[in-house]
Amino acid sequence: MVSNHIEVCSLSPHIGAVIRGVDLTQTLDEQSICEIRKALLDNLVIFFEDQAISPDQHLAFAQRFGDIEEPHPVFGQHDRDARLSIIESRGRVGDDDHEWHSDVTYQSKPTMGSILHSRIIPPSGGDTLFSSMYAAYDALTAPMKAFLSDLTATHSFELGWGKTVRRQEGGDERMHKLNAVFPPMSHPVVRTHPETGRKSLFVNQYYTTHINELSERESSAVLKMLFEHITTPEFQVRHRWKQNDLAFWDNRATLHYAARDYGLEHRLMHRVTLVGDKPV
Ligand code: SIN
Repeated sequence: MVSNHIEVCSLSPHIGAVIRGVDLTQTLDEQSICEIRKALLDNLVIFFEDQAISPDQHLAFAQRFGDIEEPHPVFGQHDRDARLSIIESRGRVGDDDHEWHSDVTYQSKPTMGSILHSRIIPPSGGDTLFSSMYAAYDALTAPMKAFLSDLTATHSFELGWGKTVRRQEGGDERMHKLNAVFPPMSHPVVRTHPETGRKSLFVNQYYTTHINELSERESSAVLKMLFEHITTPEFQVRHRWKQNDLAFWDNRATLHYAARDYGLEHRLMHRVTLVGDKPV
């Protein structure tokens, strides 16, 4: 067990910190894990630099913070352990994931946290942007907060992944099966964080189709306003990757966006996600 003196260097008032003084190739002691968890809750996304971890070490680190989610239904799966997703782009300009989102909000219990490790980084571009949904909620006026407080929204697997899955061979049939496994799911538009008690906005462009209690016209106008609001630059931090960086974000109170600005260059990331709870 290794005990570290952990340094937390904040990157912006609302979101993001770099964690120094930790070697993730080692098994960390409980005190270090507690400090990292606190840094995550305080900063929403934390970055570790120069961590040449193996897939096993990645999984072992994730496991210290909760149960690891089952294999992702669309991303590639690592030979070593299918729960380690391979997020890779090479030689094509893709459109998957090209929207602000939080992970798997089409599930009844969306991901608690995601841990992304950079393996191959393009010469330029390929940054990931993160936005604080606490800051987005806090910036709303009191009447808008009151209006949103009792609303729920539907999140759809098909909206996020339909195009990607359907263009694969046998994609329509596969999509039919996946839609049965992941039927549309309702969540509150404003959720309360189970650990901090803070409120955050919980809708995203990738998976949210409509607000259940409103007419179609009202829902699309309100979602358009919220989708613009949640991407306000002041709520964000942007990470420029180097090889062997690791980002750990709190998926319950953030959105992220993977910039697809690196053309045909190769980008390879490994991701492990943690089981979350039902948003309330
Ligand atoms: C993700 O959406 O979890 C991946 C983000 C990235 O590849 O930068």
